[in-house]
Amino acid sequence: MTASAHSLSFELAPGGALRGELRVPGDKSISHRAVMLAALAEGETEIEGFLEGADSLATLAAFRAMGVEADGPIAGRLRVSGVGLQGLQAPQQALDLGNSGTSMRLLSGLLAGQRFASTLIGDASLSRRPMGRVIDPLTQMGARIEATPEGRSPLRLLPAEALVGIDYALPVASAQVKSSLLLAGLYAQGETCVTEPAPTRDHTERMLAAFGYPVRRQGNRVCLSGGGRLIATPIRIPADISSAAFFLVGASIAPGSDLTLTEVGMNPTRIGVVNILRQMGADIAIERPRELGGEPVADLRVRAAALHGIAIPEEQVPLAIDEFPALFIAAACADGETLLTGAAELRVKESDRIQVMAGGLSALGVEAEPRPDGILIRGIGAAGLLGGGRVAGHGDHRIAMAFAISALRAIAPIQIDDCANVETSFPGFAGLAAGVGLQITERRAEKHAEEHAKEHAEERA
Ligand code: S3P
Repeated sequence: MTASAHSLSFELAPGGALRGELRVPGDKSISHRAVMLAALAEGETEIEGFLEGADSLATLAAFRAMGVEADGPIAGRLRVSGVGLQGLQAPQQALDLGNSGTSMRLLSGLLAGQRFASTLIGDASLSRRPMGRVIDPLTQMGARIEATPEGRSPLRLLPAEALVGIDYALPVASAQVKSSLLLAGLYAQGETCVTEPAPTRDHTERMLAAFGYPVRRQGNRVCLSGGGRLIATPIRIPADISSAAFFLVGASIAPGSDLTLTEVGMNPTRIGVVNILRQMGADIAIERPRELGGEPVADLRVRAAALHGIAIPEEQVPLAIDEFPALFIAAACADGETLLTGAAELRVKESDRIQVMAGGLSALGVEAEPRPDGILIRGIGAAGLLGGGRVAGHGDHRIAMAFAISALRAIAPIQIDDCANVETSFPGFAGLAAGVGLQITERRAEKHAEEHAKEHAEERA
């Protein structure tokens, strides 16, 4: 993906409240998996609620480049004509996955078992992220994968003689690694089993089952056998709890807020943000719990509340792994200290989210001490206000959105730079947020030629 010639910043007026009702876009993790399994299934899959964000569109483009036909997406509707597990064709060029770690790690597993070679590339941020965590176990299965000496992309996947199933204990709790191995397992001889150190999102397992593929779970171990078939089935994708998280925090910290988020995915492996916020004193009502396409969903009504700091229980960390930028804003507005530990993984996300959030919080006058595996944040308390100022978004979608909602409790305007990647997970964020009360303006500026050239060079490097 080439660097955009435009930079995007958010400008926020201070204060305000969030009120009304909102459905945030479809779940990113589920959207990726829906495209992948639909492409490999026999028959046509109708997907509803597909996330039209750059990350899931990158996955879709990759399958189109491998001969899969798809209509849409239009208003979240996408129809995919599956080619069957053996029906993908060799891509003519490298598959560009932009900013999307999920696309790269899951596709590595899925493509390791093909009869053709392929190359996976991404933007500057994705090219810095660790891929050894999938390369090592996939290599044990017989995959042939070339990477940089540091184990980063570009990844070159060569046709393997044959993959064989493994029994693998994940060294880190990672749904991407688990999913990558299960997808490779579809092509492997015998059984592939993955044991997790802690529960992580189980969308791959649920969706494989929905496509009629037998998956066996016993405690923290999940297994499947290669050589089966996927049969097309309609998929309905819930609203993304990771996108809802910004509004759960925003409405909690802004006095006078009363906001309902509808049809939010409430998979037990994803609801750490609700558990943590409630433990901090948030007023979140779970209304109309129901099922949507094999996933639990509910409407979440959130009203402003006085939050207090907590020591975040480590078992909640994998269940809230993408929500910490938003949760740090909640901690900044709470009474007392919030301590996060056991979260070193945050340092290898789209940015080093511990360092970057600590920097932004300091710019707004909040005391934040980064630690190797977490952070200590001293909250300003229910009566306090954050400072205003300028914060760097570091090209990380969730950093940009977290600081956007912080303005609800600021004393002066906040400007956030480098926000274009909000598009990766939450297209239309500023418009939707403005509709419920966030005072946000988007500013697009031509990038200076040197800045653009530098980014371009970084992406090639
Ligand atoms: C994801 C898993 C998580 C998460 C990412 C999406 C997935 O990554 O942070 O945004 O869809 O499987 P890890 O597996 O690296 O924890």
